[in-house]
Amino acid sequence: MDNQAFECGEQAGWNIECLRSRYQGTPGHWPKPVIDEGKAWKEMAPVPAVQPPADAKAEAQRALGAVLFFDPGLSRKGAVSCASCHQADKAFTDGLAQSVGEDKLMGRRRAQTLFAAPFSEKLFWDGRAGSLEEQSKGSIQNTFEMNNTLDAAVAHVNAQPQYQALIQTAYGTQKVDEDEMVAAIASFVRTLRPSTTLADEVIAGDTKVLSDQQLLGLHLFRTKARCMNCHSGALLTDNEFHDLGLSFYGRRNQDLGRFEFTRDKEDLGRFKTPSLRGVVQGGPWMHNGLFPDMHGLMRLYNIGMGVVAGDPATDPYIPPKSPHMKPINLNTEEIDALVEWLRLL
Ligand code: HEC
Ligand code: HEC
Repeated sequence: MDNQAFECGEQAGWNIECLRSRYQGTPGHWPKPVIDEGKAWKEMAPVPAVQPPADAKAEAQRALGAVLFFDPGLSRKGAVSCASCHQADKAFTDGLAQSVGEDKLMGRRRAQTLFAAPFSEKLFWDGRAGSLEEQSKGSIQNTFEMNNTLDAAVAHVNAQPQYQALIQTAYGTQKVDEDEMVAAIASFVRTLRPSTTLADEVIAGDTKVLSDQQLLGLHLFRTKARCMNCHSGALLTDNEFHDLGLSFYGRRNQDLGRFEFTRDKEDLGRFKTPSLRGVVQGGPWMHNGLFPDMHGLMRLYNIGMGVVAGDPATDPYIPPKSPHMKPINLNTEEIDALVEWLRLL
């Protein structure tokens, strides 16, 4: 191991005293992250606060959205709510490798955490929904999720006497239409934020709260481990799509990600970078929930992630792995430190 290419790195390891002195104040004052040339990124930053509702109407809309998020009546048989698959104590995932919808039907992907969603313009692992409103309509209608029609969901909402006062204040009518219904849900999703953790104190400038191991983990995340090429900014996501080599091309469980929506070969195997806030509460990880163990996932990152067999010269559908994915050659101690940092998020 030779870490001399990195700040505070030595031939034999890391100089923790040096790291302590370099990590003072807010992220802009810390050692610069290792980012590939031309890759867009943002410095770590505090999670943006929830905007207070503009007026009583907006407040009622948000409150209606909050109750609808927990209402299984939006599904065809009244069994599945948004919160069935997006649980607050699991970083708004469901803890399953593949989500289970109405009648126990199993989708092909894992429920995403919802911390990136308030700030994303392209929703779902493949970015196929252009707004939270469109995404909600999709989830209500998806056979593997709530399996309902929008008309039936709207009829359910309008038939609940306990929603009447909120509907009246939010929209000035007695009945919502489908757009008003999903606007309420979306306005609630926009208020979801990760729990406050030690990472918030660190990002606010109090780096003293970090143990030596956590401090090293933070430094690795920013430098040698190259994570900030994709996991950057307040929510630790670039909101872009990358192929990490996990599309199982040509195999039974193939999922070509964003390509299945755009049919643009550049998008083969690309999935949306998830937020890493609250990440340890949200496993098993990745779009297919393939990794129940964070150390196991980090060991795969360590060798530069999956490989897709075959020759792109003869098969243009071979997903081209992201150029930002490279082996990072961490030793066991460094992998442990990186995981300790992820635990703080
Ligand atoms: C059966 C489980 C299930 C239910 C019910 C469900 N979701 Fe999801 N949700 C998922 C899965 C799985 C994904 C990822 C799907 C994909 O990428 O194809 C997802 C993705 C999302 C995303 C995208 C996040 C991002 O960053 O792109 C949002 C937002 C979301 N769901 C909100 C909701 C809302 C609101 C409801 C209720 C109207 C809902 N979900 C109902 C499982 C569920
Ligand atoms: C090339 C961009 C890129 C780089 C570099 C990168 N990631 Fe990721 N990360 C992603 C994408 C894209 C996914 C989702 C992939 C999928 O589901 O197939 C992901 C998923 C994850 C997940 C799972 C989160 C979840 O909710 O499922 C963790 C944890 C993670 N990354 C941590 C890291 C760490 C730590 C590093 C540095 C060692 C790193 N990533 C480097 C793009 C990247």
